Amino acid sequence: MPVIKVDDLTFGRLKAPDLDRMEEFLSDFGFYRVERTADKLFMRGTGPDHHIHVTELGAPALVGWAYRVNDRDKLKVLAKHPGATGIEHLDEPGGGERVCVTEPNGYRIEVIHGQQRVAPIDPKRQAVNSVAEPTKRAGELMRIPPGPARPARMGHAVLGTPHIDETVKWFRDVIGLVCSDDVYAGEKDHIIGSFNRLDCGDDYVDHHSFFCLRHERTGLNHFSYEVQDIDDVLMGHEWLRARNKYEHMWGIGRHVLGSQVYDYWADPWGRTHEHWADSDRLNAGNSAALHAAEDALRSQWGQPITDKMLDRICP
Ligand SMILES: [Fe+2]
Repeated sequence: MPVIKVDDLTFGRLKAPDLDRMEEFLSDFGFYRVERTADKLFMRGTGPDHHIHVTELGAPALVGWAYRVNDRDKLKVLAKHPGATGIEHLDEPGGGERVCVTEPNGYRIEVIHGQQRVAPIDPKRQAVNSVAEPTKRAGELMRIPPGPARPARMGHAVLGTPHIDETVKWFRDVIGLVCSDDVYAGEKDHIIGSFNRLDCGDDYVDHHSFFCLRHERTGLNHFSYEVQDIDDVLMGHEWLRARNKYEHMWGIGRHVLGSQVYDYWADPWGRTHEHWADSDRLNAGNSAALHAAEDALRSQWGQPITDKMLDRICP
């Protein structure tokens, strides 16, 4: 049994040397500013999480990311784990309490309880007609206002590390993630990628909330956010492309493992952020699988993975 099981992923935390430039990128990516202090920037999506992205002022760095637990007793249990902090008051907008633990590569994993929830923002989407359902938008014209995609929530974090076996074991043993799919290259025990999801029993969750990639360097490959639907991925792409100042990393396409329609963009310091729509959703009834890399890391349609996407690891 793991030490605890976390219930959801909530925000990613980076450092950047210029909060104005970071806020401009994150706004074009589709987040809304919740609060900005002299040295921190908090951004939300359309969903009920108080914020889903935090930037601290400083040299570019990955700090870590945060999960939520619905039961405060889980904080008490985790606080006794070797190396964990005690239960701390979270002295940031939204409040709540947290326990911090350090994963094997030195990044900080925050486990949070009692943070304020906020009223969702209505993204005003229209129904989509199809052959199977030809009149879902009967009599109504589809008009999508130009603008950024609208991320609702954080979907997953992806870490590159030479210590993949130890790292994946930590996420499973300490915070209770479970394997959805592992990917090997060469010998079947040479794992080069591992997709892990929350364990919420019979409740369905995203195919992965943590992907670990074997890499010679250690750091962030990307943070990922769910947007409203597939149109939103494409409209968000158009918006970012038209700004003409951001680096496009990969997309648009549809993954095999996880099946999301994806699009990846780098922030001004090269850290990749993903928009996606339409993830597979699994529960305890789905068992783990093992795949060869050549079958797993391709796209069902769209742009094949780029070399720079595979090699972008930001410490
Ligand atoms: Fe992703």
